[in-house]
Amino acid sequence: MIKTQIETLRRELEQCNYNYYVLSAPTICDLEFDAKLSQLQKLEEENPDFFDPNSPTQRVGSDVNTSFNQVAHVYPMLSLSNSYSETEVTEFYDRVARTLNDDFELVCELKYDGTSISLTYQDGVLIRAVTRGDGEKGDDVTANVKTIRSIPLRLHGNFPALFEIRGEILMPWSVFEDLNREREAQEEQLFANPRNAASGTLKQQNSSVVASRKLDAYLYYLLGDNLPSNSHSENLLAAHRWGFKVSDATKVCKTIEEVFEFIKYWDIERKNLPVATDGIVIKVNALSQQRSLGFTAKSPRWAIAYKFQAEKAVTRLNSVSYQVGRTGAVTPVANLDAVQLSGTTVRRASLHNSDIIAALDLHIGDMVFVEKGGEIIPKITAVDKEVRFMLGDKVQFIKNCPECGAALIRYEGEAAHYCPNENACPPQIKGKMEHFVSRKGMNIDGLGSETINLLFQNELLKNYSDIYSLKISDLVQLDRLGEKSAYNIQAGCEKSKSIPFERVLFALGIRFVGETIAKKLAFALKNIEALEKASFDELIAVDEIGERIAQSVVLYFSDPINIERINSLKVAGLQMSLSEEKLQARGNSLTGLSIVISGTFSQHSRDEYKAMIEQHGGKNIGSVSSKTSYILAGENIGPEKLKKAEKLGVVLLDEKTFLSMIVTETANVE
Ligand code: IVH
Repeated sequence: MIKTQIETLRRELEQCNYNYYVLSAPTICDLEFDAKLSQLQKLEEENPDFFDPNSPTQRVGSDVNTSFNQVAHVYPMLSLSNSYSETEVTEFYDRVARTLNDDFELVCELKYDGTSISLTYQDGVLIRAVTRGDGEKGDDVTANVKTIRSIPLRLHGNFPALFEIRGEILMPWSVFEDLNREREAQEEQLFANPRNAASGTLKQQNSSVVASRKLDAYLYYLLGDNLPSNSHSENLLAAHRWGFKVSDATKVCKTIEEVFEFIKYWDIERKNLPVATDGIVIKVNALSQQRSLGFTAKSPRWAIAYKFQAEKAVTRLNSVSYQVGRTGAVTPVANLDAVQLSGTTVRRASLHNSDIIAALDLHIGDMVFVEKGGEIIPKITAVDKEVRFMLGDKVQFIKNCPECGAALIRYEGEAAHYCPNENACPPQIKGKMEHFVSRKGMNIDGLGSETINLLFQNELLKNYSDIYSLKISDLVQLDRLGEKSAYNIQAGCEKSKSIPFERVLFALGIRFVGETIAKKLAFALKNIEALEKASFDELIAVDEIGERIAQSVVLYFSDPINIERINSLKVAGLQMSLSEEKLQARGNSLTGLSIVISGTFSQHSRDEYKAMIEQHGGKNIGSVSSKTSYILAGENIGPEKLKKAEKLGVVLLDEKTFLSMIVTETANVE
């Protein structure tokens, strides 16, 4: 039977996910996993009646944009009081001992430095994931959390019928570094640390982006009426058996000395962990003792955080240099005497912008404090003025571009300085070419930054539109470029001529027009001529296009140099309009979703909504069941439906949210 086949595949894939992401002990290879997953995907598509919001196929996320519903926490999400020294930890220990006046155990855990999450499971199924928010209520990010492979969607073993489990969502260092490298190449703003990257990712409106970011999660706190044990550490072990990822670095301590040993060990060892930690959490083990200690308004009296010292070093500031990026943004960089910090040699630190330089009151020759907290790029946090025996030159932000000499400008409301000479400033021209040929742009193999530099120096490339006029005979004359590479470049250029219009638009490198905005513009305006002619007002009428982007697009197309370049790209044969297929694409944003309509509506009739659901690939169903994906809820939704929805954890969509899900979808068609 198809149903059994689907269910068997689901169980098998769930087990594989658990083995891989929780136990770190894979049982099948990626290829086999992917084959089974696509088999399941196919069966589910063919049999929408067996849709399950918790199927492993749902972990890939969807391109549907969702705005988050606010949900009140059943138990408020408090924070922990912090301590920074052994003395403060001892004070906590003495306070607990005095209040309890009995024997007690402590549990030491790592303090994971990510973003906290509260997960609710009913009958072993993940029904809701909510962020901390203001502690009283947070955002419902269930769809996004479902994409995190180490979070079980369905539990095994003997779990309570209803409980909450809290933990930390993290972006592993390796994923964070790759992501930032990619963002740097695209000149997008970098994430300062994995914590910001994790919380930024979790708030993404598009769950397929979340799925691609490979988040991880550790769980550390169970809440509910029927927990298996009176001991926190036992409960964590039980949670591990049910399928949750619980840290191995958890230790029951009977004395304060054992706590200090744990701290000492992990202060060093944490550097070898794949995720960021910023301290230790010390908790009273027995839940009955936790209850008798209780809470203050902000934090539990039964727990404390011990924060690790950020690693610091003192070194000399020798000079400040300035880097110019593709967009002309000028970044100041401090050149330092080499110093060891967290196991790496640091010679440079980012100074971000002129405001930061002024706030630090930096002078050349100053001894400066360099810190590497959660951040990957070290930063200067202060000047050691006590050893400032000689005052060097005050660091003044440059007035002219270090590369081309043009006077720098600073836009209102922005911290950065820019070189406006975009058509003649070498790093900007080269940066634009690199962007043009990049993987997400024209994806031209063989044209890396070194080759671009070589071609630029030899005046074979003056701007990105020259790329299509490169001749094999010119290329082979270059010393460092062989015949094979020359042919590769030519083949890459030819192949790129079929790259769709929305990516060509991204490749042009118009300021503020990233991948998503390029898609929105391409789908709204349909071809380059329409875009050239579009007025500021027409542009801001497009979904998600704000004033800043509209201004930048108008400015770009008002420059005759850009028009000339676009014309030569047209002549070269690049795609300058949306493909026929995409022009006619019907919606599929609701594929696989079963939606109940309930209540009265103000913007469209019920019949219209029914038609919209079907046109966009969804199914309109009459009654709420565990198979219902959403309820499109108007005014006065039936109380029975509401009750059932609450019980089953079915999400309610209001008219506006529903419409935004289908309106934006044309822009998401790949
Ligand atoms: S227990 C009542 N355990 O630290 C608070 N929190 O400042 C119970 N955190 O919001 C939290 N690792 O996001 C706990 N092992 C751990 C933790 C941990 C990280 C975070 C959590 C919390 C914050 C408190």
